Amino acid sequence: MKTCLITGGFGFIGSNFIRFVLEEKKDITVINVDKITYAANPKNLPDDHGNYKFYKTDIADKLELSKVFDENNIDYVINFAAESHVDRSIMDPSVFIKTNVAGTLNLLELSLKRSVKRFLQISTDEVYGSLGLTGKFSEKTPLSPRSPYSASKAAADMLVMSFFHTYGMPVLISRCSNNYGQYQFPEKLIPLVIINALNNKDIPLYGDGKNIRDWIYVLDHVKGIYSILEHGKAGEVYNIGGAAEMENEGIIKYILNKLNKPFSLIKYVKDRPGHDRRYAMDFSKIAGELGFLPDYDMEKGLELTINWYLNNENWWREILSGDYKEYYKTMYDYR
Ligand code: NAD
Ligand code: DAU
Repeated sequence: MKTCLITGGFGFIGSNFIRFVLEEKKDITVINVDKITYAANPKNLPDDHGNYKFYKTDIADKLELSKVFDENNIDYVINFAAESHVDRSIMDPSVFIKTNVAGTLNLLELSLKRSVKRFLQISTDEVYGSLGLTGKFSEKTPLSPRSPYSASKAAADMLVMSFFHTYGMPVLISRCSNNYGQYQFPEKLIPLVIINALNNKDIPLYGDGKNIRDWIYVLDHVKGIYSILEHGKAGEVYNIGGAAEMENEGIIKYILNKLNKPFSLIKYVKDRPGHDRRYAMDFSKIAGELGFLPDYDMEKGLELTINWYLNNENWWREILSGDYKEYYKTMYDYR
């Protein structure tokens, strides 16, 4: 048996990853450390049982975090925990530094002290900055973050790599493109579009709507992360992508068509400050070295996602009735 400490396990990608491990990898015990921020949902996962245990802990609180390391013999650490929404980082950057940078440093220091066998940092393509109409991000692309969120993730990546070079710690970094799928918090584009459309509510589209993201279905990301954990080379960065570039306007229209809703729901609103124009991933390294290729194309992934939101109305209605209402007002009412 191996013990894997997973941070941010009640969030979107973390919970999908934990479900995959608990279902498919019977030789791994999961320790989930989550602060339970607005983005977390404990209902995303089962209660504690034989090979799963949850700690309500803030990774930025080193003393509390050290107790988790004291109580468990941890082999692997995967750091999903983060403040993850670009728009929120523009409104209030400080918590992004606390969690994404200071929290990552705490995890690194404690993992080094306990001689953890592998430390995998879940990073993002946003650390590379913004592309024009051509080209792709490779692992060699210089870091050039442009939002407080991506700057905090880039800072964390640099700390992670410093622990490899300075202390010889067996670290790895994955950098993935935009995820979508089951259990994604409604503030992000795809669930926001599905939910607003189902409620016949305006869909805010930033700027000219021509920004491009490279989409990946969350279970493909999960598969890529597991392959890096198992077979990635320490000290290396691996890009993960879905080979599915789409303009925001195109994605929204696609979803509206699927839901039989009119395009008149689209409302062009003031652009996001510093809005990155295009992301596109060259993921030939993970494909060549670890055999990773996405299983889901956008059509299949969106079908599964739309159906999940249609079948799990209670999950998102509960979120919509809480603090999210205030957030939505502040973000969109006068945009
Ligand atoms: P999310 O916002 O859905 O979930 C984040 C989770 O981290 C929540 O459960 C939250 O409670 C927890 N958390 C936040 N601060 C914490 C703290 N101080 N201590 C402990 N737990 C804390 O995020 P997500 O979309 O699942 O993203 C997970 C990771 O993947 C992040 O590191 C993000 O940067 C990265 N990533 C996300 C995407 C994407 O498209 N969503 C793409 C590439 C990389
Ligand atoms: O690329 C990976 C990143 O993808 C992750 O690191 C982040 O954690 C994740 O939030 C995501 O960042 P984005 O900023 O690309 O995702 P978001 O869903 O916020 O926006 C996607 C695109 O849609 C972006 O161009 C902005 C636009 N958008 C977004 C919202 C919420 C709109 O036009 N309207 C909206 O209401």
